[in-house]
Amino acid sequence: MSKILVTGGAGYIGSHTVVELQNEGFEVIIVDNLSNSKIEVLNGIEKITGVRPAFENIDCLDYMNLDRMFETRGNIDGIIHFAAYKAVGESVEKPLMYYRNNLVSLINLLQLMPIHKIKNIVFSSSCTVYGQPDQLPVTENAPIKPALSPYGNTKQICEEIIRDTAHAAPETYQAILLRYFNPIGAHPTALIGELPNGVPNNLLPFVAQTAIGIRPELKVFGNDYNTPDGSCIRDYINVVDLARAHVVALKRMMNNKMTENIETFNLGTGRGLSVLEIINDFERVNDVKVPYQIVGRREGDIEKVWADATLANEVLGWQAKETIDDTLGSAWAWEKHLAETEPKSV
Ligand code: UD1
Repeated sequence: MSKILVTGGAGYIGSHTVVELQNEGFEVIIVDNLSNSKIEVLNGIEKITGVRPAFENIDCLDYMNLDRMFETRGNIDGIIHFAAYKAVGESVEKPLMYYRNNLVSLINLLQLMPIHKIKNIVFSSSCTVYGQPDQLPVTENAPIKPALSPYGNTKQICEEIIRDTAHAAPETYQAILLRYFNPIGAHPTALIGELPNGVPNNLLPFVAQTAIGIRPELKVFGNDYNTPDGSCIRDYINVVDLARAHVVALKRMMNNKMTENIETFNLGTGRGLSVLEIINDFERVNDVKVPYQIVGRREGDIEKVWADATLANEVLGWQAKETIDDTLGSAWAWEKHLAETEPKSV
C-alpha cells in the first residue's frame, strides 16, 4: 500500500483529501500542528472511511521533528502539502508570519525529501497567482500578476521555489502545482467540513452562519463591479471534487506518467457565479433566508475570475462533477451539523 504524507491534513481541504486517499486504498499520515484545525476531524474521517489516519502533531517549521518523523515512519511515497496560513487580511497585518510559515515549511519539506528518498510532491496553490486575468476563462499559461497580498505572494514564491528546485534536480523531484479556484461545500455525510476560526473571511461560511443565525447579516462587498449583477464573480469548486484531483495527481506521479517533472493545473468548474447568485442559490436550495446588505468594495478583491480547467481534464482525466445545488446543500448540512455539535462561537 502506498504511503502518503498529508501536511495540513486536519484542515478543510486536507481532511477531504485524506478521505479520498483512504477510499482509494492509500495509507495516510497526517502532519498538522492544529493551528487552524481540530483533532476531532480524525473522528469524522474515521467514520466516513472506516480508517483512522496516522497523526503527527508537528509544525512544518520544525525541521528536526519532521526529519525524525520521516525516519520513524519510513518509505513515504509522496507528499501533499496543504499546511499554510491562508487569510488574506491577516497576511497584510502580519507579513513576516506568513512569509516565514508558508515559505520555510515548504523549504523544510523540499530539503528533507531527497534525504528520505521521497520524489513526489503535490502543492496546494491558488488562482490568486493570476490576479485579475486579462482573459477569461483563465488558463495555466496566463501571466502571473503581482500579488495583492503577502498571502498571495507566498503562493507565487512557493511555486517558484518548487520550480527552481525541480529544475535543479530533475532526477530527484516530481512536483504538481494545483491552483485552486474557490473551494466550498462539505463532505456529503456532513461529518467533515470547513471549521472557520472566529468570524469567517470567506463567503460560504459567512453565508451559512448568517442563514443559521450566528451572524445577523451578510455584507456583500460591492455591487458596482463590471459584471451582470454588479457583484464579484468566482469559480466555486466543490471541496470533494477538489480532493479527488489530488488523488489523480498523485497517481500520475507515482505511475511515472508526467511529461515534465513539474506540471501545473487549474482546478475549477469553468463556470463563474456572482456573490448575489450564490446567495440566491443558497436560499433556494436550502429553503432558508440569508439576510444581506450591500456595502462598499473589499480592498484587494478581484472583479471576476473563473477557470479554464481543460488541461486538468485532458491530462489528469479530472473534472468537477458535483452540481452547485448539491454543493450548497452540503454546506448547509455541515452548518447544521456544527450547530448540533459545537457551542456557538461568535
Ligand atoms: C481569496 C483568494 C484565494 C484565497 C482565499 C483565501 C483571490 C482571487 N482569491 O479568495 O486565492 O485562497 O481568498 O481566503 O484573491 N464576499 C462578500 N462578503 C463576505 C465575504 C466574501 O461579499 O462576507 C465576496 C468577496 O468580495 C468575493 C467573494 O465573496 O467577491 C468570495 O470571497 P472569498 O470567499 O473571501 O474568496 P476570494 O476573495 O475569492
